[in-house]
Amino acid sequence: MSIYGISLIFSSLMGAPYVPTKNKLAIEILKEVKFKKNGLFVELGSGDARIVRSAVKNYGVRGLAIDVNGLLIIWSKILKFLDPRLRGNDKLVFLKANILNVDLTKADYIYLFLFPELIKKLIPNFNRDLKKGTIIISHGFPVEEYKNKLFKKVERSTFPTYYYKI
Ligand SMILES: C[S@@+](CC[C@H](N)C(=O)[O-])C[C@H]1O[C@@H](n2cnc3c(N)ncnc32)[C@H](O)[C@@H]1O
Repeated sequence: MSIYGISLIFSSLMGAPYVPTKNKLAIEILKEVKFKKNGLFVELGSGDARIVRSAVKNYGVRGLAIDVNGLLIIWSKILKFLDPRLRGNDKLVFLKANILNVDLTKADYIYLFLFPELIKKLIPNFNRDLKKGTIIISHGFPVEEYKNKLFKKVERSTFPTYYYKI
């Protein structure tokens, strides 16, 4: 509980509070995409990395979890270690960094659950880095600038999920 409490405050100060995607939704969200084995799945603002952990486990993608909150990165690594299906799997790696300062040129899939203000700040980086065919999954809020790239929107009882293809 204290990891979640401290993270909520710290992450809020960084621009997006730590509110995890509901665990049971991870599978639902991911099943809408056709993943290719060994594609690179990047969770931007990864929290405890539950989505990328699920993607690596269930779809054989490579995973990169990025969060500015070092406590959450440590917690994610512990959760990876505790999971027999992930322990020792070098296809899932973690990076403590500001998502506005990372290179996304290798990403095949991107997952976000971020406030619109932070999504907006990511657009120049997306325009600079993302290759043709990259899929962006944005849970909760749309990527307004990519309206014309939206190929699916799934309404849910809580937040909708938006799917874009570059
Ligand atoms: C709403 S939570 C989503 C967590 C996770 N993706 C999920 O769906 O369960 C947003 C996360 O973004 C992280 N975050 C906020 N601003 C960030 C920034 N500039 N760079 C990296 N991570 C950031 C927070 O620490 C928090 O863990």
